[in-house]
Amino acid sequence: MNHLFLVLHLLGATIWVGGHLLLLIRYLPQAIKENEPDIVKAFEKKFEPLGLPALLLQIITGILLAYHYNVRIENWFSFSNGIEKVVSIKLMLLLSTLALAAHARIFIIPKLSSRNLTQLGIHILLINIIAIAMLVMGTFIRKGGL
Ligand code: HEM
Repeated sequence: MNHLFLVLHLLGATIWVGGHLLLLIRYLPQAIKENEPDIVKAFEKKFEPLGLPALLLQIITGILLAYHYNVRIENWFSFSNGIEKVVSIKLMLLLSTLALAAHARIFIIPKLSSRNLTQLGIHILLINIIAIAMLVMGTFIRKGGL
């Protein structure tokens, strides 16, 4: 069963990280070059129904995998052993992702124009850095954590 959770976790990571890299490397530069925020909007509209369930899958399978390593909710953020440290860092990165996404949704996307496209670009860059940090953190777990 745990192997299935790991496969689903990796599948979710592929979609979440891959989708955001595509946005950062292909669509965002094109939108900036052509001064056309709708390019980013159109991508977000298509990616969201896939990306959000993928992130939800990450969270569910991540928590189940953490339980397999005996990292339970009552130990979160205690930084008491190597694996728990990684899980807690991943949870903090997750909270940062949610905060950034909420900020973009409420304050930037509704009035997206060529004037605040750079601001959204910074958000997209940060989301990518955090997503890759989550991926890198995940790889430490099989080595016993940090
Ligand atoms: C965007 C979010 C995330 C990404 C991209 C991500 C990515 C990864 C990757 C690439 C691995 C390595 C698997 C391996 O070594 O084969 C991993 C492992 C792991 N992740 Fe995540 N992860 C995310 C979110 C989470 C969350 C929210 C949690 C828990 C709260 C979590 C808990 C774990 C655990 C426990 C493992 C170890 C799995 C194992 O080796 O059995 N992850 N993750």
